[in-house]
Amino acid sequence: MKKIILTFLTLLAISPEFLKADEGMWLLSKIKEYNIQTMQMLGCNLTAEEIYSETNPSLKDAIVWFDNGCTAELVSSDGLLLTNHHCGYGSITDHSSVDHDYLTDGFWAASRKDELPNVGMSVSVLVKMEDVTQKILSAVKGMDGQAREQGVMKASKELETNASNGGAYTATVKEMFRGAEYYLFVYEVFKDIRLVGAPPSSIGKFGGDTDNWMWPRHTGDFSIFRVYCGKDGKPAEYSADNVPYHPKKFLKISLKGYDKNDFAMIIGYPGRTNRYLSSYSIELTLKETFPALVGMWESKLAIMKKYMDADDKIRIQLADEYASIANVWKLYKGQIGYGMADALIGKKQNEEAAFTKWVNSLSNDSLKKTYSAVLPALKKKYDEFRPNNLPTIYGNQLLSLGFSSYAYRFMDLHTILTTEPLDATKRDDAISKLKNYTTDQFTKYFAPADQETMVSYLDAFAKGVPADKQGTFISDITSNYKAATPHESFVKYAADIFTKSIFISAEKANAFLSKPSAKTLDKDPGFLFAQKAIVFTSQFPSSMQLAGAVKTDNRTYIQGMRMMNEGKAYYPDANSTMRLTYGKVMDYYPRDAVYYNWYTTLTGVMQKEDPGNEEFIVPKKLHDLYTAKDFGDYAYKGDVPVAFLTDNDITGGNSGSGVLNGNGELLGLAFDGNSEAMTGDFEYDPLLKRTIVVDIRYVMFIIDKYAGAKRLIDEMTIVK
Ligand code: ARG
Repeated sequence: MKKIILTFLTLLAISPEFLKADEGMWLLSKIKEYNIQTMQMLGCNLTAEEIYSETNPSLKDAIVWFDNGCTAELVSSDGLLLTNHHCGYGSITDHSSVDHDYLTDGFWAASRKDELPNVGMSVSVLVKMEDVTQKILSAVKGMDGQAREQGVMKASKELETNASNGGAYTATVKEMFRGAEYYLFVYEVFKDIRLVGAPPSSIGKFGGDTDNWMWPRHTGDFSIFRVYCGKDGKPAEYSADNVPYHPKKFLKISLKGYDKNDFAMIIGYPGRTNRYLSSYSIELTLKETFPALVGMWESKLAIMKKYMDADDKIRIQLADEYASIANVWKLYKGQIGYGMADALIGKKQNEEAAFTKWVNSLSNDSLKKTYSAVLPALKKKYDEFRPNNLPTIYGNQLLSLGFSSYAYRFMDLHTILTTEPLDATKRDDAISKLKNYTTDQFTKYFAPADQETMVSYLDAFAKGVPADKQGTFISDITSNYKAATPHESFVKYAADIFTKSIFISAEKANAFLSKPSAKTLDKDPGFLFAQKAIVFTSQFPSSMQLAGAVKTDNRTYIQGMRMMNEGKAYYPDANSTMRLTYGKVMDYYPRDAVYYNWYTTLTGVMQKEDPGNEEFIVPKKLHDLYTAKDFGDYAYKGDVPVAFLTDNDITGGNSGSGVLNGNGELLGLAFDGNSEAMTGDFEYDPLLKRTIVVDIRYVMFIIDKYAGAKRLIDEMTIVK
């Protein structure tokens, strides 16, 4: 009997059903030590070296950082690169015009010479990562605060220069656990990246902002690029003579699909998480900062949309900015609603109570002293900062307006022009930088939307900044621009700026730059507005200063937690460095009595179709393929799988990341998270947190059957 029970228990312990999918975004060089055993028990057939190696080709060589803040993966020996449609969006809009509207119609390069270069775009291939904690910490021994930060910078610079191999590589040291550990990352940066293909938005962005952050999902969120390099295989600036890059490793495409509970892992570049923050910080962010931003962005989006709907040229021009604001707006709005904020703050308070209990139980007096001070110190700093938070938030948003952020860039030039004796070299340098920037500024700038946004931000400021913190900021405006209401004064003020300022038109700005004078700036109402906003916000300690002030406390808090949970492996917060997360294909229960299946199909696309709603239009060709059941090799149970779910732990920056099966083959591309887990950057909830993935079979179906881009399919390696 005893033996039977024991066997049963042993089975339970190792059966995949009972292995909890691990939370965590793990550093690849650590998986051998921390994760590979569990990964293998869950169904991974690879060794740690096959995933990360500095000497032999490994999966890490196939996953790249895209400088648009996404991840992409190499899928052919000729440098073909897959990422999300929303990651290629900027490039697709850049190449679009009313006559060539790739946003609406999609784009497919017919041959390699038709692939479109992207000025300024790059992807980084990781050469290696190295734990340099001891090197950095020994350089800053006994230092704290600013001195320590500077010491870290100096020591990092040295390591980076050494690792750059005379400029062949780009190296960067990144801190982990708020500066308890440091890692050096060495990259080869490729600079000739061309757009190869993109589906129309009615596939690549199907469901639009309505479906964004939601499951069930039916979006073909992918686009295709290619990495080019010099004939020597080394990175090179764009040249027609460049050749496709031959990577050390590329991913195979799996058409085998998956089942619930199948092993799935993601390697990519998650941008930022804050999993170890105190409740005080989260409370300030979710209760004050996000609501203020959500309110302002909501009005900005409505203003932009009005102009975009009225004019196709403006629609294309503003599409990229609109999409990124709408995305973050919906994320923040989700986090502050549905009781999510309170639930999260409650959880953090429980963690802190457990921490305090542990501290009180310590017998070592010096440890007890260190750790008992940390939470009260954090609380005090947040309490002191809180009254300055909203004025800073609203003030900074005024500085984020198109014209004011541009005017802000002229402050240096103003200082140079008013400093005796005049430094002509510095001046000319500043002018040439501003001239370059001016081209960028105006390619996607639309003044009427900026003008209306300015008024709405001033309205928000007047309402949102506590009266005793406003100073004369608003009253100056209302007395200079007399009107029946403050709102009317803001309208007049904005009209004045937008008729007179040089910062709202490329011609005026360039005319100024060819004959710059401090006097012109001194009377430019746009410049004065930016100055006024800076003078206002700089009365208050900035959130950067707060971050600096609490950094040591946060580091100590994490160290304490790690000591408290000795033996538990900790992963550092995401910081745009390569990470691996592993888990399973998984369904979920979003709320009472509701169950969500783990995959969607082309039938679901047709169910959502609404020709009267731009977000839910289905292209005719896709419809025809569906009706004819012309699914090629990409069908599953008489349908085409479109998207699926895993319980992998990802965040923004992972967009475009390959989702891999136990053999390291591509199952799909991660492109979103679900609304029920929007606080996922602060915590991982295994019951609710899901990664939304576009199924590679849908991607291949669109490339092959919809676009007829057989030449691309032919260069990939497909596993059936
Ligand atoms: N929510 C996704 C992310 O943050 C972006 C999705 C883009 N799609 C869209 N409809 N805006 O990675």
